[in-house]
Formats: sequence, C-alpha cells, structure tokens
Amino acid sequence: MMPMRNLTELKEWQALIDHYDEIKHHHMRDWFLQDSERFSHFNLRVGNILLDYSRNRISKNTIALFVDLIQNVDLKEKISELFTGAHINTTENRPALHTALRDLKTTIYLDDKDITSHIADTQNKMANFVSQIHNKQWLGATGKPISHIVNLGIGGSHLGPRMCTEALKDHAICNLSIHFISGVDDIYLQEVLNQIDAETTIFIISSKSFTTIETLTNAQTITHWLTHTLGINDVSKHFIAITAAPEKAVKFGIPSSQILPLWDWVGGRYSVWSAIGLPLMLLIGSKHFTDFLNGAYEMDNHFRYAPYAENMPVILAMLGIWYINFFGAQAQAIVPYSHRLRSLITYLQQTTMESHGKSVDLNGNPIAYTAGSVLFGEEGCDGQHAYHQLLHQGQQFIPVDFILTGTLHSSINHKHHEILFASCLSQAQALMQGKTHEEAYNDLIIKNMPHSQSQKLAHHHVVSGNKPSNIIFLDKLTPHNLGALIALYEHKIFVQGVIWGINSFDQWGVELGKQLLPDILKRIQHNSLHTQTETRIKDLVDYARKIKELT
Ligand code: F6P
Repeated sequence: MMPMRNLTELKEWQALIDHYDEIKHHHMRDWFLQDSERFSHFNLRVGNILLDYSRNRISKNTIALFVDLIQNVDLKEKISELFTGAHINTTENRPALHTALRDLKTTIYLDDKDITSHIADTQNKMANFVSQIHNKQWLGATGKPISHIVNLGIGGSHLGPRMCTEALKDHAICNLSIHFISGVDDIYLQEVLNQIDAETTIFIISSKSFTTIETLTNAQTITHWLTHTLGINDVSKHFIAITAAPEKAVKFGIPSSQILPLWDWVGGRYSVWSAIGLPLMLLIGSKHFTDFLNGAYEMDNHFRYAPYAENMPVILAMLGIWYINFFGAQAQAIVPYSHRLRSLITYLQQTTMESHGKSVDLNGNPIAYTAGSVLFGEEGCDGQHAYHQLLHQGQQFIPVDFILTGTLHSSINHKHHEILFASCLSQAQALMQGKTHEEAYNDLIIKNMPHSQSQKLAHHHVVSGNKPSNIIFLDKLTPHNLGALIALYEHKIFVQGVIWGINSFDQWGVELGKQLLPDILKRIQHNSLHTQTETRIKDLVDYARKIKELT
C-alpha cells in the first residue's frame, strides 16, 4: 500500500475553495474591461503552439494557488517516474513509457534493460515496409503492387492512426488510399471492401492483445473474402500484424517477417507513436513521421522542465480540475475549427475518458471527489449550429477548448479561412462576455420592437456569459505540431490523474462487457435465450438470414 494523501484536506485545496468563494461571482467581462492586457498575462507558447487561456475564471492569484497545490502532490517525482519507466500502471504492474518512443536521442533503460535498440529496430522495420510499398516492391499474391491500405483495429489501435492520417492528409507523399474498419457491423466492412481491390490491398491487423473480438472477426472475414476473391489459399502477402502477442499473429497465419512488435509498456491509447502509427507513416513517409515524434518530444521536454506556472500541460490540467472539482463541471467540449482535426474529438474521448473514468485511488479506496468528465464535441462551425445553444444558454457549465490552425497552402481560399477564424473567436467571445438584459432590450428597440414586447422578449435573449474557454492555436497543421498537440493532451491527462491520485493507465471497466459477451453470443448462436431482448434479437438475426437466402 502506498501512502495516499487526502486531497481535499490539503490546506492548498482548502485555499482554492476559499478562492473559489471569492471569485465565483466575478464576471470575466469585468476583468477584461479592467485589464486590457489580460491576454498578455494568460498565454503560453511552446514551439509552434500558442495557448490563450485568458477567457478563464481565474486571476493571477488563481495560478499561484494552482502552483501551491501542485507542489504538494509530488508531481515532480511522478513526472520523473513517467519518463524513466517506473511501474506507474500499478494494477497491471507495468510502466507507461510511450514517451520513450519519441525520444530518439537518449538511451532508455527499462528494468535495467536498454530498450532503445528495440524501438529503433521497429521504426526501421516500419520504414522498410513503407519504402517497399511506396516503391512498388511489395507485391500482392497475384503480383500487383499495393494501392490500398486497410487498418483493422479498434480503440487505441484505430483512433490515433485514423485521426492523424486525416489530420496530415496535406503531407501525404504517396497515392495510397487508406481506410479504417473498427467496429464489427458488417455493413461497415462491406462499405470499405466496395472501395478497394483485393489484389492491391494490404490489411494491417492492429491489436496489442490480438484477442479483440471486433478486430479478429473482421480479420477472419477478410481472409475468407481474399481467398475467395483471389482464388488462392495463401493470402499472407496481404497482411501485416502489429501486436504485443506475435505468437497469436503467427497462429492466425501472418508470417513473422510481417509482424511489428508492440510492448506492454505502451498503453493502447498512447500507442500512435509506436508501430500502431504505421498507417500514418505509410501516408506521410518516415521523415515526416520522425517530425511527428519530434513534435511530441518537444512537448515532453517542455513538460519535464518548464516551471509549473508556465507549463502548458500543467496549466490545462489545473484549469480542468478547477472547473470539475470547484465549479462542478461534468463535461468538457473540444471544438477544432479545422476539418482535418475532426477526429481529434473521439481520439481525446478515449485518451481522457478511459484514463479518468475511475472511482478509486491507487490503493483501491473510493475517492471523495469527482475524477474526470464527459468529453464531447464537434468540428466548428457544425457544433455552433447544433449543440452550442446549450453552451451559451443552458444551465450546464461546460468549459471549451477551441483549436485553431494556421493555413498551410497559399492556394487556400482566404475568405473561408477568415470566416472560420472569426467564427471561433466570436464563439469564445460570446461565451465569455454574454449579453445582458439591457443589451438585449436595446437591440430589440433598435429593431423597432415596442417597449413592453422588447422587455419581455429580452429575457429569452439574455446570455449569461462567464463561460470559460481556451484557444489552442497551431501555427500550421504539420506533423511536428500535431505531435506536440497530442503530447500536450497526454500530459494534461497525466497531471490530472496524479492530482486525483488515480491510475490513468488501466481500463478495467471495459473488461466486464468483454467477459459477458462470449456467453451471450453463445446463447444467441445456440438458441438458449434468457431474456425477451435476446429472443427478439435472435428473431431479427434469423429474419435477416432468411432474407439473404431468398435474395
Ligand atoms: O476496450 C478497450 C481497449 O482495451 C483499449 O484500451 C484498446 O485500445 C482497445 O481495447 C483495443 O485493444 P487491442 O489493441 O488489444 O485490440
């Protein structure tokens, strides 16, 4: 048992409670009016990433109190443990050493063994696959070069590569078309199969455990489809496997020369830096992939060494805790004003919610405060025309991270980009300043609405404001900056986990559903149904089967 501090009894936590009572009625609008330099006090820059956190319910004193708290939760030691491979994932007795994958210069030891060469060998092997495929040396079973890649994986073996390949499409150095299949709905599979050509496709089976039912079912169906479509038995040239269980991949039929390793010290949701990132390397090439790793490394170094008050992940983490534990926020919105970053939301959903969905501390004792919150969002401007109404006038308190990127191409239509920027900034401004009854009334009077009607209607137009948001601005959406952005959020999540005293690296909750599935599946397959729902589902399955037989 490790000694656990009682977070809420720390005097620094109590000081934050007092401070919250002091400032909870202050309106950010007044702070901006009183201090036209507010932005200059509350912004940070790391490399090409700017964080504007001026629209938050904080004063300079708040930051000082944040730092006081952090100094009392052993963050420094925990950061050192993270980077040096201590077994910080205590329930699985393993490190969470994903940072080693992007440190290309240091010799890193894990349990006294040098792991640097394993990492370098794997990165070389990835680069070798990429070059063979790009140079048309990798041929499919019928002798044709490869033009399609399909990633079969789910969770961390899907969300990272999908998000990054979408985000960095403008950096593609090849014409490969890259597809993803994650869930087990056969329509999903069929839709992808309709877009590809069996002879020229490689399927990457991405599964750390190589036991995940969705991934393996898809891989089996595809093996049958390939043998049937190509009319040959050996279709192994159409597969690459990425796994920490190579023996299972070999048993599946993948030649060991086509298996890339993963290690138990890389968590699924932190694995995009490993061989799981192969679809990204295939798209952007190994040089850009190295830039991606270097961007994360830059953020790692900032996180390790910058003072807390100037430390971007620490500030983001503390703002999150401020709102969850003091303001009672139960959700957070992520709103990228960038079509390329549209899948960042689901990516961060997994990293954040699998990490923080915990109710006990590291010793297994219930925690007396909330850890984590719901993370959701939508690409801006779409969100504006959907759920932002609730952000502005709903009773819920939902802090927002807006993400903006500079333009990449001179050919871009500037008018569109200007509107995109203006939309983001006006949403942040509206959340912050709101609209008073008097302002709403005056607006209506100007439009010639009679006094009594204006008075009445103005109540519906009032926007309380004082809703916090951050703007995270990437100079450009490059591999380097994307790497830094992802690492920023990883470290934010880490800091919050340290403060809450939870294990941010396990996910036992998702196991229960996995354990129950085989039995329920057997009952559906063998007609021994227990509940009315199961009976109904069985009827539907039988009905669908009959229709298929008839058509
Ligand atoms: O179900 C949760 C999970 O274990 C994730 O943490 C993981 O990213 C995903 O399943 C996929 O697991 P695997 O890579 O082992 O197939």
